[in-house]
Amino acid sequence: MKVTVVGAGAVGATCADNIARKELATELVLLDIKEGLAEGKAQDMMQTAALLGFDTKIVGSTNDYSKTAGSDVVVITSGLPRKPGMTREELIGTNAGIVKGVAENILKYSPNAILIIISNPMDTMTYLALSATGLPKNKIIGMGGALDSARFKYQLSQHLGASPSDLNGIVVGGHGDTTMIPLIRIATWNSIPVTSLLSEEKQKQIVADTMVGGATLTKLIGTSAWYAPGAAGAALVESIVRDEKKLITCCVKLDGEYGQKDICLGVPVIIGRNGWEKIVDLELNEEEQALFNKSADAVRSMNDVLKTL
Ligand code: 2OP
Repeated sequence: MKVTVVGAGAVGATCADNIARKELATELVLLDIKEGLAEGKAQDMMQTAALLGFDTKIVGSTNDYSKTAGSDVVVITSGLPRKPGMTREELIGTNAGIVKGVAENILKYSPNAILIIISNPMDTMTYLALSATGLPKNKIIGMGGALDSARFKYQLSQHLGASPSDLNGIVVGGHGDTTMIPLIRIATWNSIPVTSLLSEEKQKQIVADTMVGGATLTKLIGTSAWYAPGAAGAALVESIVRDEKKLITCCVKLDGEYGQKDICLGVPVIIGRNGWEKIVDLELNEEEQALFNKSADAVRSMNDVLKTL
């Protein structure tokens, strides 16, 4: 398997590091526009191989897409990260041009690749990648829900004193501070509904803290987070290259599922060798569906901005 990660910033490099450690690829290309950055980080990571015991070959490239030729999966992290106080949506003007250019360059050399989009605003960048490339919809996957669901489980674990991996919980809708919807009604701790264990007040707090999970970190660190975003990207790569058929919440094109169409939004999907293979069309209750529709409206107006750029 050959995997490329575009963008050797903190998220891209962390994603690449996870991919290498797990040996998800025989060859891993890290590409960045900044002279020497990808080569340097690739070499630094390769120097961990003897310590960590992995055999993935990591190659760095300064904007030479020919090195990415024949990639099976490509993770796109390019673009500016957000600064404290900024919303993900404010990045659209700069990141739209970058993501479109990257996707087109990638497909010149890897026409059969599955694309994973991490760049923000993620839902709109996923929609843009789909419309700009004309790829079949199952080959374009936005990472947001995978990350937000991991953050949801973290918040639940803190309040329950539970192991995060014992928790089940998904966040659907957009990957924005006000557009994501942590579905606490169906979250469980090893099959036990968490709603039976937490007060309503605690549940509300968990939902609210999950929604601003990224913004909280941006404020603390001074830039966007990278460990969980990078690990979420790598988890998607893993389910694809190992054909695991994991059920992961991701941003994908909806054609009537969840009552929406002509939009990419976070819903639970099965991820395997063909990209996203099936949407699980859960029945939401009235309140959740209303939030989902509101989230779709917000993401749709952001997608409309693409027409003005
Ligand atoms: C985050 O939520 C980078 O959008 C990403 O941290």
